[in-house]
Amino acid sequence: MTNDRICILGGTGFVGRHLATGLAASGYRCRILARRPERHRELSLVPGCELRRSDLSETDALAEHLEGCVAVVNLAGILNEGGGRTFQGTHVELVERILDAAQAAAVPRYLHMSALHAQAGQGKSHYLRTKGMGEDLAHARADIEVTSFRPSVIFGPGDGFFNRFATLLKFSPGVFPLACPKARFAPVYVGDLVSAMTKALTDPGCVGRRYDLCGPRVYSLQGLVEYTAELIGRKTLVIGIPDFAARFQAQVLQWFPGKPFTMDNYLSLQTDSVCEHSALAELGIEPQSVEALAPGYLR
Ligand SMILES: NC(=O)c1ccc[n+]([C@@H]2O[C@H](COP(=O)([O-])OP(=O)(O)OC[C@H]3O[C@@H](n4cnc5c(N)ncnc54)[C@H](OP(=O)(O)O)[C@@H]3O)[C@@H](O)[C@H]2O)c1
Repeated sequence: MTNDRICILGGTGFVGRHLATGLAASGYRCRILARRPERHRELSLVPGCELRRSDLSETDALAEHLEGCVAVVNLAGILNEGGGRTFQGTHVELVERILDAAQAAAVPRYLHMSALHAQAGQGKSHYLRTKGMGEDLAHARADIEVTSFRPSVIFGPGDGFFNRFATLLKFSPGVFPLACPKARFAPVYVGDLVSAMTKALTDPGCVGRRYDLCGPRVYSLQGLVEYTAELIGRKTLVIGIPDFAARFQAQVLQWFPGKPFTMDNYLSLQTDSVCEHSALAELGIEPQSVEALAPGYLR
């Protein structure tokens, strides 16, 4: 057990909630910076967890919040631009600000959440390109020890993937038109990701590494949506739509409130989210399967 304090940025989301609980179970104290802490009061019930108000926009203010922390974990990320948030601002400029603040506060360790196949300067998806830029920027710093995590889609209680499809399926009229049905994923359990991050905090061998993280099985998007329908007891016919229709769907839906599907989402789906080599085994973690866990929180 340790009593060290870890600062989590982007800690109010799906991964952040699991990470705070996991770190607390390992004896860490967490400090979570949130734009609107009043919306996330449940996080202050996690043992040793402190919620502070910050929009992460000022390096000096950020440095003050990082004082006394042994590590900073950056989970901040967006799938769609909007509400004043851009991919460049969130995935690149914010990373630079966090690293400058960490240097000012003499924080020695930085864990960076990237995404599988994030690559600066390559690919058409702005999400993946900017994720790659932020990752490269962090690993180029000599003043802090960096580890990056590059997961496929992450699943677990409260996830945005299965729960989102479950909601869409509940409102579908028996037929569900699906874009990019052949896109492939190797969903990784959020608890395994938390174990990987917790290990990286104490294992010097993790410094400087970029870990691709995948679950034990590869599925098509259509297979995952059909499985979700089965779990929630819907007899919905999932029909893969042709590519031209998927592009049209994205062009239209990106203007809807909440941006249910955008051109950038479509472009991200053109790259299969599967690992050549998942690092979980190397980290001593046995990956959990969708079949073992999803029924428990979707049914
Ligand atoms: N979930 C997945 O399947 C998956 C897969 C691969 C990679 N990732 C990456 O993992 C990270 C966490 O994912 P998640 O599923 O937990 O996402 P999430 O539930 O959407 O949470 C995202 C968090 O980032 C914060 N955030 C977003 N933009 C910000 C900005 N410009 N400034 C400050 N905070 C900002 C949000 O704060 P507010 O509450 O203020 O909005 C929230 O706390 C992200 O970086 C994501 O790209 C996720």
